Amino acid sequence: MMKLCALPRVRLANLPTPLQEAPNLSKALGGPRILVKRDDLTGLAFGGNKTRKLEFLMANALREGADVVVTGAGFQSNWCTQAAAAARRLGMRCVLIKRGPVDGYDPEEYDGNHLLHFLMGAEIRVATRGNIRRVYEETMEELREKGHHPYLLSAAGSTPPGVMGYVNALLELLSQAVEMGVKIDYLIHASGSGGTMAGLILGAKALNTGIKVIGAAVSPGRERMTKSVVELVNESAEYLGLDLKVGEDEVTIYDEYAGPGYGVITDEKAEAVKLAAETEGLFLDPVYTGTSMAALIGLIREGFFKKDDTVVFLHTGGSAALFPYKAPLKAYGLGRPMPWRKPPWSG
Ligand SMILES: Cc1ncc(COP(=O)(O)O)c(C=O)c1O
Repeated sequence: MMKLCALPRVRLANLPTPLQEAPNLSKALGGPRILVKRDDLTGLAFGGNKTRKLEFLMANALREGADVVVTGAGFQSNWCTQAAAAARRLGMRCVLIKRGPVDGYDPEEYDGNHLLHFLMGAEIRVATRGNIRRVYEETMEELREKGHHPYLLSAAGSTPPGVMGYVNALLELLSQAVEMGVKIDYLIHASGSGGTMAGLILGAKALNTGIKVIGAAVSPGRERMTKSVVELVNESAEYLGLDLKVGEDEVTIYDEYAGPGYGVITDEKAEAVKLAAETEGLFLDPVYTGTSMAALIGLIREGFFKKDDTVVFLHTGGSAALFPYKAPLKAYGLGRPMPWRKPPWSG
């Protein structure tokens, strides 16, 4: 772990993020003690897990003399918001290559993260799934030809340097738990690319904490995701100079709460968003934290936890992704059928 402090890092987050009790939520569910680790309060743009990854990733971009960051993900991506905000804070331009339903997709109304990308002056290129690779290649070539030094950030920042952000978060969480005199049994969070999970597992194992990390997958495909988390933990351990390896049996992922696809809103996700808001004034979104809260609720209802367990719910951010779901959430709250479940912006 000594090496972690020696890695290049640029400060972007307000740390430590709070670790708060959620007694009303716990009571409403008849569940274990629930603590919320508020990584939605990292302080960059609207906060979120990507700030921690970007502290390590952007330090490398700066070292390489980059003046433009190139990255991308889904049309309403939180990652794109955080990456563009980090680039702007560090005086760089940002090109976002986003997946949309058609090439060049440009909706009438700008909402959620897309509005934030636009306000930050990110150069937005939207392509369908099959064309994305070509757009990346053309963008990098075009920028180099114009004399720029573009830095490519892989989607979600899930490479060993990015993973370091969550090894560090685990250290932070542990010291807060010691200070509060709590022993954490489980740590549950939303898992997409698996970088957050890889960092948490690596930190928990390296420090022999006994904390069981649970990932709630935001799209179906538990097996594929398990394999990629194992790979990422092992690569990251090597990057840190740790003699440590994990196997698939050490990675716990539930994909039952994802629904039929990424970003598709289900009754369970809507219930989770509503319940967190009603009990704790805590805002989630139907893509990520709504899924991990649905998993927490589901696991409590099926008796997975013991009454005296302590479960930490990692709030990974994504608040800006809440608003584009206003129509189905209104309908759910009023007990009416949702007008749509698969978002019109999804690619
Ligand atoms: C709010 C939120 N939570 C969780 C995740 C998942 O993180 P990871 O890609 O590291 O699995 C993301 C990734 O986009 C996110 O935006």
